Amino acid sequence: MWTNPHISKQLLDIHINPDIDLGSRKKNAIERTVEWILSNCSKEKMNILDLGCGPGLYSEILAEKGHSVTGVDISKTSIEYADQEAEKKNLDIKYFNQSYLDLDFENQFDLAILIYTDFGVLNPGERKTILNNVRKALKPEGKFIFDFLNLLCKAHIKTWYKGKRPAC
Ligand SMILES: C[S@@+](CC[C@H](N)C(=O)[O-])C[C@H]1O[C@@H](n2cnc3c(N)ncnc32)[C@H](O)[C@@H]1O
Repeated sequence: MWTNPHISKQLLDIHINPDIDLGSRKKNAIERTVEWILSNCSKEKMNILDLGCGPGLYSEILAEKGHSVTGVDISKTSIEYADQEAEKKNLDIKYFNQSYLDLDFENQFDLAILIYTDFGVLNPGERKTILNNVRKALKPEGKFIFDFLNLLCKAHIKTWYKGKRPAC
């Protein structure tokens, strides 16, 4: 559904509607999530990898706060929109239209994020692949932050450290 041209256009409209919690969380939840993420990082300027970045709602806030952001998403529609927005707003964000299961970054990022419970939809083999990709993409003491649902459908956020904590 993410890559189908027709559906992905409808999904984009849903993502960028700040008042609904479907493709992306509501705007104020996104802002609070970014605040929380940054409060868990001590570096002032980080290289951040936003996996499954969608239309770049988190990437943009992170870039506005002075971080260098790389966004990866499989949806061409979302990446094209995100790219245009970043250019319009003159933000330091590079977007790549590719699967996060096929990443090729090495030792580059202080922080990687995967937000809106995407880890939970991956099968065990894909989870292993994305964790390996993230491990390779992070600098030695980089951090990976992702969220997931528990059995009561409550959202949790998890931090995974590549090396000894805390680097960022
Ligand atoms: C629930 S949305 C969350 C988007 C964004 N993180 C947010 O919260 O605003 C999931 C995103 O992951 C992307 N996605 C799904 N599978 C992917 C894959 N294998 N590689 C990269 N992106 C993927 C979708 O295109 C979609 O933008």
